[in-house]
Amino acid sequence: MKTIIEPFRIKAVEPIRLTSRQERGAILKAAHHNPFYLAARDVLIDLLTDSGTGAMSSEQWAGLMRGDESYAGSRSWERFEQAVKNVMGFKHVIPTHQGRAAERILFATMVKEGQVVPNNTHFDTTRANVEFIGGRAVDLVIPEGKRPEVVHPFKGNMDVAALQALIAEVGAEQVPLVMLTITNNSGGGQPVSMANIREVAGVAHQHDIPLYLDACRFAENAYFIKLREEGFGDKTPLEIAREMFALADGCTMSAKKDGLANIGGFLCTNDALLAQQEKNLLILTEGFPTYGGLAGRDLEAIAVGLEEVLDEDYLEYRLASIRYLGEHIARVGVPIVQPPGGHAIYIDARAMLPHIEPLQYPGQALVCELYLEAGIRSVEIGSVMFGRRDPDSGEELPAEMELVRLALPRRVYTQSHVDYVVEAIVNVFERRDAIRGMKMTWQAPVLRHFTAKFEPLTGAH
Ligand code: F0G
Repeated sequence: MKTIIEPFRIKAVEPIRLTSRQERGAILKAAHHNPFYLAARDVLIDLLTDSGTGAMSSEQWAGLMRGDESYAGSRSWERFEQAVKNVMGFKHVIPTHQGRAAERILFATMVKEGQVVPNNTHFDTTRANVEFIGGRAVDLVIPEGKRPEVVHPFKGNMDVAALQALIAEVGAEQVPLVMLTITNNSGGGQPVSMANIREVAGVAHQHDIPLYLDACRFAENAYFIKLREEGFGDKTPLEIAREMFALADGCTMSAKKDGLANIGGFLCTNDALLAQQEKNLLILTEGFPTYGGLAGRDLEAIAVGLEEVLDEDYLEYRLASIRYLGEHIARVGVPIVQPPGGHAIYIDARAMLPHIEPLQYPGQALVCELYLEAGIRSVEIGSVMFGRRDPDSGEELPAEMELVRLALPRRVYTQSHVDYVVEAIVNVFERRDAIRGMKMTWQAPVLRHFTAKFEPLTGAH
């Protein structure tokens, strides 16, 4: 059979509500034209994020009942630790309430003010956590990774020559760790090849610098390696995942993505001394090291999720549904980051709306149009999220790309939902010339995209 189907049937359903276009206009205005201010009940198809929004399986729900809520040394912790070690293979596992807590503890332990952390592309919370300590977060993705239209099988790869040059420039002692984000979320959900992980690990280790994986979407990355990298076609996703982690010294993880859970995360390391320091910090803000801010039942859900996410039928369906969305909109000319990534489709808003200046936020304008058109919630990944001020002139600088991300929650929407999204995007694309830019009327000093307020620009352009 050629047809790839959702490899599950649905046991519980959650109604979603259609609104009229007129209602959505008023709702969007009240939400300051920022999707983060929208109430979920006013959203029909929610593609804001794939984080924590997945559907749990019957086994995971059963796991919730097994949750052992003992404060210390619960059976759920044992199952969780074993499940993590089974896939990731690191010696020390530190549970946290989500990925950014793992990042905060990792950087607080390893990074000193003025030091440099290279990554293929830092996710926004990762960058913010490096910068909060006074470190410098440097993105070193390969040049292809910054060009939406360029097709490359592993656009998330790090530019190894640039890494070497950076280490030579600042000195190895100023680089406390190197990170690789798999898949590269901010660069379009693009995978990193095993060869690249190996090369980056080689360069880092040559300078005694540890390599950490930001492993949020490790299973999707593993499956891309199986499909695209020579020599991996006959390996299971679990074998490939283990091989990736074996090249690294530790990882951060948000279990809200490829943990198939609604909350949770962890930090892993092979370094006993670091693990001890990290656990001390953990106790301060997250909790005792056998639960780290999670309920026992959450630990159970993650333990089951880590196993289910590596199922080949699941991964085949997962990547097929993203590809389906991407191919159907690209076919009519909608410019997207090519090829489709692992968890989301990214529309290139700069290419689609060339008449809108970057600092009039074409991505934000497109996000608003998709909501108005069909009640779809997406998110801007462009100058709203990554624009910054020039430290000397104070002038606002645009981001390198103006993207709109349509992230598909795991196991939640069916193909007809995706067809509906395709139709909405095509409709908006057809009237793209009439879309106007946005003005930011308020912003917070850090991570401004969550709370910024906008007004649409009117009149001719
Ligand atoms: N690293 C990456 C690559 C991420 O995509 C995220 C979260 C995090 C770290 C932080 O994890 O949310 O559990 O604290 N990404 C979500 C997203 C929020 O929508 O892409 P967290």
